[in-house]
This record gives sequence, structure tokens and C-alpha cells, in this order.
Amino acid sequence: MCGIVGAVAERNITAILLEGLKRLEYRGYDSAGVAVLTNDATLERMRRPGKVSELDAALAEHPLVGRLGIAHTRWATHGAPCERNAHPHFSGDIAVVHNGIIENHEALREQLKALGYVFTSDTDTEVIAHLLTHKLKDQPDLTVALKATVKELHGAYGLAVINARQPDRLVAARSGSPLVIGLGLGENFLASDQLALRQVTDRFMYLEEGDIAEIRRDSVQIWDITGKAVERQTVQYSDGAEAADKGEFRHYMLKEIHEQPAVVQRTLEGRLSDQQVLVQAFGPQAPELFAKVRNVQIVACGTSYHAGMVARYWLEELAGIPCQVEVASEFRYRKVVVQPDTLFVTISQSGETADTLAALRNAKELGFLASLAICNVGISSLVRESDLTLLTQAGREIGVASTKAFTTQLVGLLLLTLSLGQVRGTLGQGVEATLVEELRRLPTRLGEALAMDSTVEKIAELFAEKNHTLFLGRGAQFPVAMEGALKLKEISYIHAEAYPAGELKHGPLALVDNDMPVVTVAPNNELLEKLKSNLQEVRARGGELVVFADEKAGMTNGEGTHVVQMPHIHDILSPILYTIPLQLLSYYVAVLKGTDVDQPRNLAKSVTVE
Ligand code: G6P
Repeated sequence: MCGIVGAVAERNITAILLEGLKRLEYRGYDSAGVAVLTNDATLERMRRPGKVSELDAALAEHPLVGRLGIAHTRWATHGAPCERNAHPHFSGDIAVVHNGIIENHEALREQLKALGYVFTSDTDTEVIAHLLTHKLKDQPDLTVALKATVKELHGAYGLAVINARQPDRLVAARSGSPLVIGLGLGENFLASDQLALRQVTDRFMYLEEGDIAEIRRDSVQIWDITGKAVERQTVQYSDGAEAADKGEFRHYMLKEIHEQPAVVQRTLEGRLSDQQVLVQAFGPQAPELFAKVRNVQIVACGTSYHAGMVARYWLEELAGIPCQVEVASEFRYRKVVVQPDTLFVTISQSGETADTLAALRNAKELGFLASLAICNVGISSLVRESDLTLLTQAGREIGVASTKAFTTQLVGLLLLTLSLGQVRGTLGQGVEATLVEELRRLPTRLGEALAMDSTVEKIAELFAEKNHTLFLGRGAQFPVAMEGALKLKEISYIHAEAYPAGELKHGPLALVDNDMPVVTVAPNNELLEKLKSNLQEVRARGGELVVFADEKAGMTNGEGTHVVQMPHIHDILSPILYTIPLQLLSYYVAVLKGTDVDQPRNLAKSVTVE
């Protein structure tokens, strides 16, 4: 989603802002802009549609020099992605950048127009700029005026503001959109993600919901939601820098796919004893709370939702616990009936997805037993606001299409399943010890699947000219098929749909012909024979098949049937393994189509608006 960077220093800060934007670009990227207070105390800005490189080129021709500034990468919500709508937005002496959505912007716009303010963009953000200018008439102190302004805003915002008349400070406000202050020596910074500031500092202060901050060169002052002056803890951050480098790989996505054996290993570290999962990995209260759990409700979005769907099969089959899974944007607005002793589980790579966070906040009112976040970012809002946490150790994921975050979420969810079954005594004899052993072998198996890279690259050629594809799976492989279809549409823009293979004959079979390849995942389990019949139904209609099949499944190449032999794996872990070739397939199809693999059109890494 959008990204914010700000700086107040004694040196020229334009290059710092630009570097910060480049590091944030993976979050949202349809336009970018920067505003600085130049040395003759005027506000100047440069905005460009497209990538940060466009802004960079424009600044190379017309440099902006100043010691106070703000910058933004935008992912359009209100108004098309063009220069006029790009941030920063100006009003009088002030410049504003904003992440989030102001829900009452229309009413505010009318009021401000009636007061004579002229709007030059279609954005909701511009109302903040004019409202603030209006407040400054009564109260010339920028910080005080910002406090008055945010009282009138409904919705979500992370805001950074500068004022030409107060060149000593940058002010910020957080409500529903994360902001972090980077602490330097004689200079301070602000960003929506600390990654943007890693080149200038490793000390950070995270703003909390409702905080307002006044950031000067040599001081930071923060007020909480009640207006009380507060101190926020300073955190030294040392991880994550390596992720900003693609290394030997052509794209972040390919690098992240290949990191999976290592990050799965990391996710398991310290969480397994000889034959068991260590339940305390979920927090010191976990053993006591898990013993009470009788139901599980999982809520997530996108890829994380697919991880939740796989977990449902595991929780019911292995731990005997009824489980419901729902996308957060639906759950948050539905009248939900909560069964007694239900554990509320959110899954999120970023921990900042607006719908997932809102669902968690609603859940607190609904009488769930406790909340658990399975999340990749330890300092995220989701983690802070949940009772229990399991951090996936995927490291920073830059590619918009989620890969290693998904497989580590699956590992976390299998650990959860085994932990719940363990404390409740519902696992079958020897199941935990077997699966713990299988989990230990998983990184090696994933490495074997990755070794099929060039085979999958060849298969990708079948798809490059197609417009539609179908993904099929049965049982826990159905969500894997959904994830495979999502990957393909996200980065290659080919229409892809997933179906449980048994549903084929109830409709989608009508679409199958030789222009619609069908991708299937076929581990060696009790559903294999049924799946083989479904595949015959496709072949009989001239559909071309690509089957990722267990080496023991006895499937071989035939006319119009391309079989990729997969290393044999325990059926329970097969969703994790079979995800790998589907990730590689979508990657190579996108490369062949020449699309922007890491930053696909219209999408954002972390969706912090509703
Ligand atoms: C966006 C991303 C997806 C991601 C989803 C949920 O749509 O593009 O890759 O799966 O958000 O994000 P989360 O951070 O909550 O897992």
C-alpha cells in the first residue's frame, strides 16, 4: 500500500527521502512525490505518476534541496494515479502525505469548499491539508492544529505534515496506519515502515494507535490518544536489511521461493522437542488456554486465507477440533454466532492488513476464548493486539505475490494443530512423533522440489499464450490449487480459477477445451483414484493437463498429459511441498509474458485500507 518517508536534519535530505521511497516501493507504486522546505523557506514539490524511478529522473533534472521534507509512494484509492492526485498535497504553507482512507472526506470537502478552499485533486487526502490550514488560522502551532484536525477525521490514517512557517519540525499522526520514527544523531526521520530508514538508522520508536508526534532534529515528543504526553520505547533493529537485496536472483519472488527450505527451518527452530511440539512456543499461557479450546475460528485475507483453509483440514483430521475459516472482509461485517471456547486465529504476513485487524478488534467484543496471531512481523499491530502469537520466521518478503510467508504460515498452523491436539489428548497414537520427524525432514524435501526449477520452467511455455487456466485439487490440496491460481493471476494476469476436482462436472467442465490448460496437484493419498477419474474427464474434452504427482502415484506422461514427478512426502505435509512447483510455474509464466513479477499492476504488498 502507500508508503511515507519524512526527515528533519541539518543536511540535504532529498536523497534520503528518495532512497526511503525506493525501499517502500514494493508496498504500492502507481505514483510518487516529494516535498521539501528549500533553503529560502519555500515549499517545493516534485510528483510523478509511475515508479519511483520516474521521480528520481525528474529530480535529477530539477534537484530539490532542503533539510526538512516528506515523501510518498501512492497506491490509488480515491482518484486516478496521475500527477495531480500524487502526494504530497499542499494547502497554504503546509504539505501533507497520507496513508489510509478518510471516510468522511466528502462531507469535509463540502464544508471546506463553502469556506473558499479550492481543491486541485480527487483525493481524500487533500481535505486534510485544507482542514489543517483552516485550523492554523486559529492556532498557528502546527502540532496543536494537527491535534484539532485529526479529531474531525473518520477512517484510517498515517499522516506526516510540514509547515513552511515552522521549519524546525515534522509532525505525524497515526490511527489505523503504521508509522515509525527513526532516531539519528542530530537528525530524525519518519516512515510507514522501518525498512525505509535502514540506511540512516537502526534505532526506532513505533507510534501507537491515536499517537501524535512532533519530530525535531534533536527531540521527539509524543502524545497519546487522550492527549497525554507519553514516552515510547526505543527499539534497536538489526534484522531485515539483507532482504532489500536480490542477490544472484533476477527477482525478489524467485529469491523468496528459493529461501523456503531455510526459512521453514528457522520457523521450526526452538519449537520442537524430541518427539513433540513445544506448546509454549505460542506464549506462556498457551498450554492452559489451549486445553480449553473446543473450536477454532480462522480469519485472514488473500494468501494467508488459503493457509487457513489448509489448516482447517489439519485441525479437524488430526486434532478433532471443529474449525471455520473466513475472509476477514466478510467476517468483520457479519453477525457471527460464536461457539463457546472458540480460539480466534488471525493469519497475516504483514500484521497490518486493515480487514484482518478490524476483524480481530471486533472479535474482542464477541466473546472468543482468546486470540492468536500467526504473523511474520513481530512489531505489527496484529501481534501487539493479540493474546498469543506465533511468529513465522520468513524474513522480510518483498515480492508482492506471497511465497515464503505462505509456507511458513502452513508450518506454524501445523504446529498449532499438533499443540492443540497434544494438550487436549486428541491426537492419534504416535501421530505427533511421526509428524515432528516429518517436519524436521521438510526443509530437505522443499529443497528437492526446488531442484525441479528447470522442469517447471519448460512447462510454463504451455501457458504463456493462454488466457484461462483451471487448477484442481482434492482435500487439503484444494486450497493449494486456490493458492496456485491466485499466484498465476496476480503476476501473469492470466485468468485462473481453482475448483475442488470433484466439482468439475458441476459446471467448469463446460469451459474445458484445448485452449484451457488444467493444472492438478496429485499426492499419493486415498483420493488419488478419484482424482485420476476427474483427469480423464478433462482429457476426454481435449483439455491439456499438467499434473504434479507423487513419484509413487504411478502417473506418467501421455498425449496432452504432462506429469511432473514430485518427491514422496507424508500426506499431511503435502500441501506445503506441492505449493512450491505452483509458485515456480506462475513465476516462469510471468517471466515469459514479461510482466512486472515483483510489483504486479494494481496490487499492493500490505493492504492497510479497507
Ligand atoms: C495483499 C497481498 C497478498 C496477501 C494479502 C494479505 O493482498 O498482495 O499477498 O496475501 O494482502 O496480507 P497479509 O499481510 O495479511 O498476509
